[in-house]
Amino acid sequence: MFRCPACGGLLEPVYSVEGSPRGRGVWRYADLLPRSRGPPVSMGEGSTPLVELPRASELAGCRVYAKLEGLNPTGSFKDRGMTVAVSIARGYGARATLAASTGNTAASMAAYSRRAGLKPVLLLPRRGVARGKLAQAIAHGAYIVEVEGSFDDAMEAALRAAELGEVYPLNSFNPYRLEGQKTIAFEVLEDLGEPPTHVVVPVGNSGNIAAIWKGFKEAPLLGLPPARPRMIGVQAEGAAPLAEAWARGLREPVAVEKPRTIASAIRIGRPVNWPKAMRAVNESRGAFIKVSDPEILNAMAVLAREEGILVEPASAAAYAGLLRARKMGLIGEDSLVVVVLTGTGLKDPDALSLLGSDTTRYTAGPQEAVEIVKAIVSR
Ligand code: F0G
Repeated sequence: MFRCPACGGLLEPVYSVEGSPRGRGVWRYADLLPRSRGPPVSMGEGSTPLVELPRASELAGCRVYAKLEGLNPTGSFKDRGMTVAVSIARGYGARATLAASTGNTAASMAAYSRRAGLKPVLLLPRRGVARGKLAQAIAHGAYIVEVEGSFDDAMEAALRAAELGEVYPLNSFNPYRLEGQKTIAFEVLEDLGEPPTHVVVPVGNSGNIAAIWKGFKEAPLLGLPPARPRMIGVQAEGAAPLAEAWARGLREPVAVEKPRTIASAIRIGRPVNWPKAMRAVNESRGAFIKVSDPEILNAMAVLAREEGILVEPASAAAYAGLLRARKMGLIGEDSLVVVVLTGTGLKDPDALSLLGSDTTRYTAGPQEAVEIVKAIVSR
């Protein structure tokens, strides 16, 4: 399923129609989305805020806007793809859905599948999923198989299970998912008012960066201004099959057997969508780069403390990548950069706790508490 019968490659929908945006959210761009039988399975996903980051801009030395994808119904950009793919699944008459996931896809597919009356089945890397994401999937009543090994092992199992033909696969090798996710590009073009010079995206299974690039290429079909921003894909140092290939000038990813990083969402060593992602970065004259875990945590702290924006480590990797790309001279000071903050920080309390500090927390009785407040504000 979802493989070219001739060459075994990934599939990609193309459009010969034109249209215009109407309404709100992902389905505002229905003219350029696959049609399903019946109304879409939707919860108002998309139409997320695009906000200026004044302090983070100053720190980066260029103009920076953030797309707040954590404000989607289940807390990540995955909902954009899920509303499309689950609508198609229901239209086909599927009864059960399947996905391997590092957590956000899991939460999203469980929620949308239940809303559609379908049975969600998940393959998750054991001990590889943030607590909040696992809790979401459990709350939505997903059937969960915790696979010994990494996400890549779970993905391999999912590909084999999908071949049974009894379940509808919702991983991003399903091209309908990427069709929904491309709407990020449409919204950026409508809200920013001028075309961005760079779009920085965290990369795991590498579907989203390809989806967003496809959106920029198709935007003129919707009457939106043409834009060819450089796509900058950011990976974590310990899980950087594409950034490693890029650095070495190779055409194929350098597989990572035991991917390691604090950013569990992108802890992926063998990205399934790599051909599409490589093409997106090549066509846009962008780059893949990598950042360390300390850089990711620093970026998370800057976004939380200077901008009031709470994101998970994988999302913070995008801003860390921008800082790194500025230092490398890959992004110039006249640039207008959009960083895609892919998911909320609320799902990963263990990562958040790494940002805390003992010097700002006290335990006290009510009387003493007043004294402490006095001392803090007069400091
Ligand atoms: N950011 C977040 C918060 C993610 O959850 C993911 C992927 C990515 C970035 C990378 O996107 O895979 O299209 O390159 N999460 C997947 C999951 C793998 O299962 O939730 P990608």
